[in-house]
Amino acid sequence: MAIQELTISNFRNLNNVSLTPARHLNILVGANASGKTNFLEAIYFLGTARSFRTIQSKQLINFESQDFVLFTRINQGGTIFPIGISRNKQNTTIKIAQRFATSAAELASLLPVQVINPDTHKLMEEGPRYRRRFIEWGVFHVKHGYMDTWQKCRHILKQRNAALKNHWARKAIQQWDLALINVSSEITAIRNEYIQQLLPYVNQFISDVGDLPTLDFSLYQGWPASENLQELLQASWETDKRKGITQYGPHRSDLRIRIKGYAAKDIVSRGQQKIITALLKLGQLKLLENAYPEMTSLLLIDDLPAELDQRYRQALMALITVSRSQVFMTTTDSKFIDVDALDVEHCMFHVKQGKISVIATNGEYVATS
Ligand SMILES: Nc1ncnc2c1ncn2[C@@H]1O[C@H](COP(=O)(O)OP(=O)(O)OP(=O)(O)O)[C@@H](O)[C@H]1O
Ligand SMILES: [Mg+2]
Repeated sequence: MAIQELTISNFRNLNNVSLTPARHLNILVGANASGKTNFLEAIYFLGTARSFRTIQSKQLINFESQDFVLFTRINQGGTIFPIGISRNKQNTTIKIAQRFATSAAELASLLPVQVINPDTHKLMEEGPRYRRRFIEWGVFHVKHGYMDTWQKCRHILKQRNAALKNHWARKAIQQWDLALINVSSEITAIRNEYIQQLLPYVNQFISDVGDLPTLDFSLYQGWPASENLQELLQASWETDKRKGITQYGPHRSDLRIRIKGYAAKDIVSRGQQKIITALLKLGQLKLLENAYPEMTSLLLIDDLPAELDQRYRQALMALITVSRSQVFMTTTDSKFIDVDALDVEHCMFHVKQGKISVIATNGEYVATS
C-alpha cells in the first residue's frame, strides 16, 4: 500500500492538511509541538482506527471542533482504494471504497502500518504485553486466518471468566477447558512458526548494522512448557475462581529475547536497545514484504535521532532507504538526516503550527510563495 494523497481535517492541531507524499521516503521537519507526531498519529489512525498515544480517540478531535475527518487514496497491489475515517465524540466511522467497514481489522489488512518511536524500546524492556502486541501484529499480517482462531480463543476466555465470576459449578466451567486447550495449541503453533520465520530477518539486519549481538527467540506459550495445560487449569481452579480470571493460556504468552542465553534487556546498552527494537520492527516489515510481495506497508518513524549516535543512525537510514515500505519520518533538525546522500525518491515537508508544506522533492527545493 502506498498513500497517494492524504487529507486531514481537525485532527489535533492539524486543521487543514492536504498533501501528496513520495512513494518511498517522506521526511517531516519541524520544531517541538508543531504537529509532527500528530501527523504520524493521523496516518496510524487510518491504518488501525486507533492512536499509538492514547486509548481515548475523542482526544484526537481538535479542541475547537466536533469531529475529525481523515481521507486517503491508497494503491494496494495496483488497485486504488479510497479510505475515509471520521470520529465524533461518540463513535468512529470507517469507509473503504464507498462501503462502511465492519471492523478495524478490515482496515488493518489493507494498510499494514508499523511505528518506530522513542517508546519502541519498551518492546525489550517492559512487560509481556508489548511483545505480545508485536507478535500479534506479525501473525495477523502474515498468517491470514489467524484472526478467527484468536477471536475464538478470546470468546472462550470471556465465557470461562464470566462463569468463574458468577461462581458456576466446577463441572460447568470445565466444559470451556477442553475448547481452550485445543485452541491454545493451535495459537502456540502459529506463533512459534512466525517467530522462527522472523528471527533470520532480524539477525540479518543486526549483522548489516554491525557491532551488535545476535538474538535468540523463544516463545513462552502462556504456561510452563513442562506442564500440561489441562492439569494446570484444574490445579489453578481455586485461584482462578477467587480472581475471576483464567491465569494460564495464550493470552499470557511472551516472546523471550535472549543474547548468549541471557535476557537481552540485561545485556545491551540503551542505544543498542533502541536500535535492536527498531530492527525487530524492520524485520517484521521485511518478512511481510517477502511473504506478500504485492503488498506495501507503511513505516512511521518518530524522532529518529533520539539516543542514537551517528553510526547507528546512518546504519538505520541505510536499511530504511532500501525498504519497500512507504516511510514517514519526523525530526526536529534536518541535519540529523543526510538528505543529499539519499539515493531514493523522497519528499521533505516542513511542519509549522499545524500547517504542512513541501520544502523539497528529491533534493530539488520547491519555491514557496
Ligand atoms: N485535540 C487537540 N486539539 C488541538 N491541538 C492539540 C490537540 N491535542 C494536542 N494538540 C497540540 O498539538 C501539539 C503537539 O503536537 P505534536 O505532538 O505533534 O508535536 P511534535 O511536532 O511531535 O513535537 P515534538 O518535537 O516535541 O515531539 C501541542 O501543541 C498540543 O497542544
Ligand atoms: Mg513529537
